[in-house]
Amino acid sequence: MSAHGDPIPMTARRSGPLRGEAVVPGDKSISHRALILGALAVGQTRISGLLEGQDVLDTAKAMRAFGAEVTHEAPGDWTVQGVGVGGFAEPADVIDCGNSGTGVRLIMGTMATSPVTATFTGDASLRKRPMGRVTDPLALFGTRAFGRQGGRLPMTLIGAADPAPVRYVVPVPSAQVKSAVLLAGLNAPGETVVIEREATRDHTERMLAGFGATLRIEEAPEGRAIVLTGQPELVAQTIAVPRDPSSAAFPVAAALIVEGSDVLVPGIGLNPTRAGLFTTLREMGADLVYENERDEGGEPVADLRARFSPAMTGIEVPPERAPSMIDEYPILAVVAAFASGPTMMRGIGELRVKESDRIAAMAAGLRACGAEVEEGEDWMIVHGLGAGGLPGGAACATHLDHRIAMSFLCAGLAAQKPVSVDDAGPIATSFPIFEGLMTALGAEFDRGDA
Ligand code: S3P
Repeated sequence: MSAHGDPIPMTARRSGPLRGEAVVPGDKSISHRALILGALAVGQTRISGLLEGQDVLDTAKAMRAFGAEVTHEAPGDWTVQGVGVGGFAEPADVIDCGNSGTGVRLIMGTMATSPVTATFTGDASLRKRPMGRVTDPLALFGTRAFGRQGGRLPMTLIGAADPAPVRYVVPVPSAQVKSAVLLAGLNAPGETVVIEREATRDHTERMLAGFGATLRIEEAPEGRAIVLTGQPELVAQTIAVPRDPSSAAFPVAAALIVEGSDVLVPGIGLNPTRAGLFTTLREMGADLVYENERDEGGEPVADLRARFSPAMTGIEVPPERAPSMIDEYPILAVVAAFASGPTMMRGIGELRVKESDRIAAMAAGLRACGAEVEEGEDWMIVHGLGAGGLPGGAACATHLDHRIAMSFLCAGLAAQKPVSVDDAGPIATSFPIFEGLMTALGAEFDRGDA
């Protein structure tokens, strides 16, 4: 079942060259944060380039439920009239975050230090995912959480009426956990300190500073410490959301594996905490060039030009790079199937608790397509078959996971026989224009099974 209706089976077949410009939507991580910080600011925040995918729309709806005025002005253009830090009202109904782990975890953090009670739920994928990683640190502020076994949704949080600031070392590399604790720290008096052993995406820190919060980054014995001063007055901002590197990954990867392709993907955010895939692809020998590098709204941005790269070779991806490309391993696994030799991906245990178990989903689908894949608890090796070498001819299960669906559809564009997915519906959570954008480049997709 799709997250939002009946399943939408889709098939991709070997396509002619992909050519042209691929204008991908706004960054999902930054879009969630713009709405949430806009809701906590005083005054009207104006956002352009917001991703209008279902995950972000669910966060917009949640911010309304907590009392902010969120208005869709024009495509990509939104305004948020904030309620101020500590100003959240109690929602009148259950907050449904759909498919979005980022949405639910960041919103839990945001309400955790206000005297309100809220119940959260989500789709079948989100209801399987662990929330204890967020509710454990929130308990240190005095927040109480009651969920299903294993810390699963649906879950009710009772916000701390008299929160104390905390010092917390994040035990897993997770920007969602880091961000939830920082957002909770906003309404606690004094300094909240969040320490991460490995640097993860830093959009929350950047945006908090942009909204006028006082925070500093320090080196602690355990790692990178973010020290946030609680109870600031956040000031409404004008935010231009850069285009999403995690969405750009799909047309870029497709261009590298489809013969004769030459695709330009303009205006992509290249924050170093997000751009690991592109570094990896270049190490594999991809013809991927950054053009017109610039700075937009405090984030590095470039136009990406990707051309068919028949001579890519497998590499060992450095495990310390994992946080900067954590959402891109599914599509990297597809590119690896079209490179020669093995690509080794280690330190990727977090992939098992994403929208699906992404190691299992990619291994199963690629094997069905004729590739040899080895996997362990936190690693995967894809044995590449070279350009045009993947047999294909398989139906792949997507498990309500947008990135699994897009990855196998890209594989089908270069495989010898068509590749189908059981449900392309979840693609709408992050990249609602994927089908049209890829088709305009020359991709051949059919609705339905092969
Ligand atoms: C995100 C953080 C990552 C990533 C997710 C978006 C964010 O998750 O996988 O798609 O916006 O903070 P984790 O925090 O679980 O690593």
